[in-house]
Amino acid sequence: MSTFQAPKGTYDLTPPRSATFLAVREAIAAPLRDSGYGYIETPGFENVELFARGVGESTDIVTKEMYTLTTKGGDQLALRPEGTASVLRAALEANLHKAGNLPVKLWYSGSYYRYERPQAGRYRHFSQVGAEAIGTEDPVLDAELIILADQAYRSLGLRQFRILLNSLGDKECRPVYREALQTFLRDLDLDEETRRRIEINPLRVLDDKRADVQKQLTDAPKLRDYLCDACKAYHEEVRALLTAAGVVYEDDEKLVRGLDYYTRTTFEFVHDGLGSQSAVGGGGRYDGLSEMIGGPELPSVGWALGVDRTVLALEAEGIELDLPYTTSVYAVPLGEEARRVLFGVVTGLRRAGIAADFAFGGRGLKGAMKSANRSGARYALVAGERDLAEGVVQLKDMESGEQSAVPLTEVAAELAKRLG
Ligand code: HAM
Repeated sequence: MSTFQAPKGTYDLTPPRSATFLAVREAIAAPLRDSGYGYIETPGFENVELFARGVGESTDIVTKEMYTLTTKGGDQLALRPEGTASVLRAALEANLHKAGNLPVKLWYSGSYYRYERPQAGRYRHFSQVGAEAIGTEDPVLDAELIILADQAYRSLGLRQFRILLNSLGDKECRPVYREALQTFLRDLDLDEETRRRIEINPLRVLDDKRADVQKQLTDAPKLRDYLCDACKAYHEEVRALLTAAGVVYEDDEKLVRGLDYYTRTTFEFVHDGLGSQSAVGGGGRYDGLSEMIGGPELPSVGWALGVDRTVLALEAEGIELDLPYTTSVYAVPLGEEARRVLFGVVTGLRRAGIAADFAFGGRGLKGAMKSANRSGARYALVAGERDLAEGVVQLKDMESGEQSAVPLTEVAAELAKRLG
């Protein structure tokens, strides 16, 4: 193992690709900010207990995938595998739900950790942008979140994604269904582990990818037939609101999701260019989570979109984001005196809000102009001894190739004018 190798299942974001990641985060966050969601940031780790209770003792995330550690002080912590439990915990701790304005609408962006088997699109460290709307039961809120995610993906130019939608019922009707499903599953020919799963988390069996299991599930009882009237009406309302907003979705009654806290609305954004790790984002309603972690009743809904997979989706669709170059002006000094003077000019430009960079290290004109080109700067400022003696710098338009001498005292104003 080389010291220069990132840990298994992780990778570094380096320029220029890293710029796309920033742009994706921004594209997902922008519609949220414009819709009343406030930014929240929570620690990268939490007490293990929060995820055990929140995400669910029987989920893969909690049983196999958490990075846990015991601190020197004896605390049991876990690197956060997801954001919802943490955000709800933080909102409860800060009493945001008591401030009078429900729902509490929050968005976040950060790193998450799951000890999964690495493969294309599946990493041990990944990045999500998420949104949670806490404390209100209203189908309009579920619809709002789905519409905002759709809007974010569309703003990036993505087209080959689909929205899968389902309802998982509530604490009235789901237990009845769960029991009916268990009764059905217990009669099937299944391996030991799957049998155990029937007792702990039978809905997850429906998600089994193996063909021989799927074959036996054709006649399994359907959750749709067990939904209580309130859940049915709620779901119909969400569907109608999405349709009214022109958001296309597919009903997918097999959609169960890998976290235990969901009730009623659940959804996933899948992209058809990504192979097996096709879920680019997912979420749903979690009306019971607050109580599961010891809080009051706070029906809530949210989602998280995976930044890594969204970038892969862009690549799969051949979409190159139109990312403006960050540097507008590149200064090339020729000689010691020019170095001091031009660096002063660059500092002045920066203070005036003009993005400027500098040819460091006293390189020759040719090499420095190559760097100027690579920086994408629209203008280069070149100055040698003779220019300085005349009190001017050469201002070169990198697009047209035109060059003119501009008095040192007027460079900033001239550039500000030209750059608009
Ligand atoms: P999730 O479906 O587990 O949901 O994750 C959301 C997204 O994070 C996935 O669709 C995927 O894009 C990305 N993701 C998850 N695991 C990995 C991985 N190992 N490598 C790369 N990307 C990954 C949640 O986390 C819920 N907290 C969503 C939510 C918010 N539900 C309600 N509110």
